[in-house]
Amino acid sequence: MTETRSGGPIGIFDSGYGGLTVMKEIVSVLPEYDYIYLGDNARAPYGPRSFDTVYHYTLECVRWFFEQGCPLVILACNTASAKALRTIQQNDLPNIAPDKRVLGVIRPTAEIIGEYTHSKKIGVLGTRGTVQSDSYLIEINKFFPHVNVFQQACPMWVPIVENQEYDQPGADYFVKKSIGELLQKSDEIDTILLACTHYPLLLPKIIENVPEGMRVIPQGEIVARSLQDYLRRHQEMNKRLNFTTIEGKRSFFTTDSPEDFDRQASVFFGEKVISKHVEVQHF
Ligand code: DGL
Repeated sequence: MTETRSGGPIGIFDSGYGGLTVMKEIVSVLPEYDYIYLGDNARAPYGPRSFDTVYHYTLECVRWFFEQGCPLVILACNTASAKALRTIQQNDLPNIAPDKRVLGVIRPTAEIIGEYTHSKKIGVLGTRGTVQSDSYLIEINKFFPHVNVFQQACPMWVPIVENQEYDQPGADYFVKKSIGELLQKSDEIDTILLACTHYPLLLPKIIENVPEGMRVIPQGEIVARSLQDYLRRHQEMNKRLNFTTIEGKRSFFTTDSPEDFDRQASVFFGEKVISKHVEVQHF
């Protein structure tokens, strides 16, 4: 028998397409909920932008999700999680929407990533913004104080992915270069975390360029399992979400061209995507 409950959708946000790699894993673990995805493609990439700019852009998008009736928003973007999440949670939510929640991807990843390493040396690959924030260093240290974290910014990787060059020969140079720079920091690294939601598209090239036996961990599945656990523990939130025992609704929005979005998004999401254009500046 079909059971339904009417509530709001879960909002999933990224600067562009990368969050779709997380959404793909979330809908596979939690297919019964409704989802709204927003890519701020018109202003991507966020990686090289200042704290202030990333915070303002992210807040506008979070307000937009709230207007759409989302009680819960996931920042499926490490850069926004690193640069905007804490301020939004601590300063903005209490004023604009005390009953709503915004969660990021860094903490759930940091909570578990230490379990993958035997050598207790982890490499973290991310955007310049994520690396400069030291968020992974700080968060992993809280959960795994005996694990050493080595970070490497890969400034070319998001542009390569956003421009659909991720499977082209030109991408090899930059993938090899950034991995080489990371592994120079310690020859004991046995686990590499892809701390940017765009990077799973480069996974085949990354695997080609790491030593045999190296674990390369994308974070989509980790975030999906963590959300499942969060909803189990927070029944008050779970009850406010739209739920049906058959598959929920999925809507996609972009701040740039829907035609471009639809063409690229299916590669990240693994299914056909039909999006609509939105303006978020006035939120
Ligand atoms: N996907 C975003 C992340 O996880 C970064 C993309 C960007 O630089 O805008 O960090």
